[in-house]
Amino acid sequence: MKLKIEKLADNGFGVGFLNEKEIFIPYTLPGEEIFIEKIQKRKGKNFALEFRVVSQSKKRVEPRCPYFEKCGGCLFQHLSYKDQIKFKREKLKNLFQRKIKVLPSPKQFGYRGKIDIVVSSQGIGFRQRGFWNKVIEIDECPLFGDNAKKSLSELRKLIREQKISLYDLESHKGLIRYLVLREGKFTGQLMVNLVTKREIEREKLTKYFNFAQSFYLSLNPGLSDVSFGKPLYHFKDEFIQEKILGITYFIHPNTFFQSNSYQLKNLLKLIAKFVKGKKVLDLYCGVGTFAIFLAKKGYLVDALELSPSSVKMAKLNAMANDVYVNFQEGRAEEIDNLNYDTVIVDPPRPGLGSKIIKKLNESKIQRLIYVSCNPHSLAQNISQLKNFSLKKIIGIDMFPQTPEVETIAALDRK
Ligand SMILES: C[S@@+](CC[C@H](N)C(=O)[O-])C[C@H]1O[C@@H](n2cnc3c(N)ncnc32)[C@H](O)[C@@H]1O
Repeated sequence: MKLKIEKLADNGFGVGFLNEKEIFIPYTLPGEEIFIEKIQKRKGKNFALEFRVVSQSKKRVEPRCPYFEKCGGCLFQHLSYKDQIKFKREKLKNLFQRKIKVLPSPKQFGYRGKIDIVVSSQGIGFRQRGFWNKVIEIDECPLFGDNAKKSLSELRKLIREQKISLYDLESHKGLIRYLVLREGKFTGQLMVNLVTKREIEREKLTKYFNFAQSFYLSLNPGLSDVSFGKPLYHFKDEFIQEKILGITYFIHPNTFFQSNSYQLKNLLKLIAKFVKGKKVLDLYCGVGTFAIFLAKKGYLVDALELSPSSVKMAKLNAMANDVYVNFQEGRAEEIDNLNYDTVIVDPPRPGLGSKIIKKLNESKIQRLIYVSCNPHSLAQNISQLKNFSLKKIIGIDMFPQTPEVETIAALDRK
């Protein structure tokens, strides 16, 4: 079955038609001819599973990573960075019906602050696109940088020398499940978090990963295949640090931190530019990344976050930077005081729920700053924020080599 790619869909897949049926094909570009051998139906959509490119687009570039098209991580290494930005601009334009600037990332590789490497008897690496139980064996990850190569080699040495079993994704037998790496890009500090099904004796691990600033052993004895584990013990530092625009942030294995520190600088500068008045509320504040930056600039900042460990870390971050922020633990939807000049929201991918939208609409807030990793939920929420009008909106490319784009919007009360 042969088809021509007509366009790139929002999810970064090439789109072509077979008997008027829409087919999504990864790693392809408009104008290319594709021979499809196998199609898989997922969530009502048709995805090409086995295919080859018969005629290539002139826009196709050589991917930097040897695992591109095999590993399910990146979708866009066959597209020049200039064209990636163009794609993101178009995506935002279609969603918001206006021209929107997208700030390119200062680094297009080596920018990721965190990767979760699957360690299993199916392989050590990243999952093959479309398969939960097929893993592409990797030795490096150019998106993370040199420390991925070093850590993967050290992990294989540890497994070989200590004869530790690997978790089997199907039978659930075996010990090591994930190697989670985090890095402070401006401090060079590396955190290695080995997630295992059961305890591995401390003594067996002491001589490995000595190049890391912090090493954790975390347990995930459950059946759910997640890289999140309960820390059992650690060597060396409890936290690693990242330094952005003069602020030091502490990072723990289980707290959120923005994934591209180079672009976080630009995001923080835009937030500071968009704030109005003196009293600011940072909702969904995580480890206080925005709140502490603004407090350091002299704003009076309150902040709210659901995760107790993030709140704890946020308080520590404030103390380390010698600023005061009133951090509270709780649900954004339950907030009853919205007496602020500016409110910042940075919700998870599904966006804001109807309860908090209603409260924001009924408040007297002058300015709302909405930071979003999902432009679809942002567009939907903006249409629901009926008492606000959109003043500024900018795309920030936090995720080069992928179709994802971060967006910041400034809204004013009508
Ligand atoms: C995209 S992160 C933003 C983090 C923060 N702005 C930062 O830069 O570190 C979203 C945060 O919202 C928190 N969260 C999720 N649901 C929440 C809720 N209902 N109320 C408050 N916080 C919530 C998550 O724990 C997470 O830390």
